[in-house]
Amino acid sequence: MSAYNNEHFRNLVQPDRVHRSVYVDPQIFEIEMQKVFGRIWVFIGHDSLVPNAGDYYCTTLARQAVVMSRDEKGRVHVLFNRCGHRGAKVLPGVRGNAKVFVCMYHGWAFRPNGELAGVPMRGDFPKEVLAEPIAGMVPVARVENYRGFVFACLDPNVMPLKEFLGEGIRGIDELVDRAPDGEIEFWAGCHRYTFRGNWKMQMDNMADTYHPAATHASTVGPDGRQFQRRAGEKGGSAPFYAPNGEALVAQLGVRGMRNGHSSEQSMFDKEQSGGVIDEYRAILVNRFGEERTADIMKNRRHSMTLFPTLDILMAQTSVRVVRPLAVDLTEVEIWPVRLKGAPEVISTDLVKFVNITHSASSFIQSDDLEAFERCHEGLLTQGSDWVLLARGMNTEIDEGNGVFLGPRSSEIGMRSKHAMWHKLMCA
Ligand code: FES
Ligand SMILES: [Fe+2]
Repeated sequence: MSAYNNEHFRNLVQPDRVHRSVYVDPQIFEIEMQKVFGRIWVFIGHDSLVPNAGDYYCTTLARQAVVMSRDEKGRVHVLFNRCGHRGAKVLPGVRGNAKVFVCMYHGWAFRPNGELAGVPMRGDFPKEVLAEPIAGMVPVARVENYRGFVFACLDPNVMPLKEFLGEGIRGIDELVDRAPDGEIEFWAGCHRYTFRGNWKMQMDNMADTYHPAATHASTVGPDGRQFQRRAGEKGGSAPFYAPNGEALVAQLGVRGMRNGHSSEQSMFDKEQSGGVIDEYRAILVNRFGEERTADIMKNRRHSMTLFPTLDILMAQTSVRVVRPLAVDLTEVEIWPVRLKGAPEVISTDLVKFVNITHSASSFIQSDDLEAFERCHEGLLTQGSDWVLLARGMNTEIDEGNGVFLGPRSSEIGMRSKHAMWHKLMCA
């Protein structure tokens, strides 16, 4: 398939820099679809997208069409969206419900667990052919569900999901624990858009506390008062009122973790209060007591990014999913989350908040998308072969369990991601 071998990849990622071809070379993209996306756990969707028997949700895994479905016993499956007869994609839309999934070509029907349920004029087929597992909709090799987050892997020999998530699992726990009922829901649809650039641009950005003062100056700079971030604030983005907004951003640490995960420290480390937040807090205290509630409501992180493509946005109580479509085309989804058991207005306010921060026409994410596209264009030039990720080198604090804290908006989160990518590409 390619002239590239492991030797070629060896020097592309160095401790303080990454070769530009990692972002712009179409051949490398094809290889990473197999060696990265084909071998580790990739987030498919939240199981609240398929609450009832027969529900299905269509998406992609390493660019291959897959469907997450729920069978009549309540089990969630991830199947290749492919007919066992002559290969047609069975389910064409995004979401729906059907007792059986019927292929439009010759009418073969499949149960939500992928088994072949019906074949028109079946007598003319040899029985043993229809009995082969490949005559159904074939399941993806491995599927695991952690607190509603459904992951799949094309490689049957992958390590268990929990082991892969490692310390990064705290991101899911901290988000789901905010729901008094202990469950969240993808309830309001999502924002879905593409940008002209490589998927790693968005992944790097999720571990980047260095950029906001410049990229988002119109919001977070001393003059930026575009919207009220948190209940109780007056007239704009309070932490950046002071002329030292830039210095404040510079203080935000980043953690790099084993297997390429990372997290960003929160810009708002104080517990929120006032209005509906007090009502919400009272519900939590009633369920879990004062100490546990204080822990749940602590704003530890801005986000937790799970390699390769999932971002738990703690600050927005939302989930971002990144889907590589081509070397220079990436799809992004933002799913606002409903916290089951919390006052309803918390969840409806979150939808409005995400419209402002992370929709395609928002105040924040649109700045980032512009940066990603400019990076992609710049990296196509011969100006230099290297992308520098050296900020905060050699100042990391070892926190144990494979977690390293990079103080002062270090680029350690990006270095962790590229180290994992490199390990997989060289394997
Ligand atoms: S291709 Fe699906 S029934 Fe023939
Ligand atoms: Fe940003």
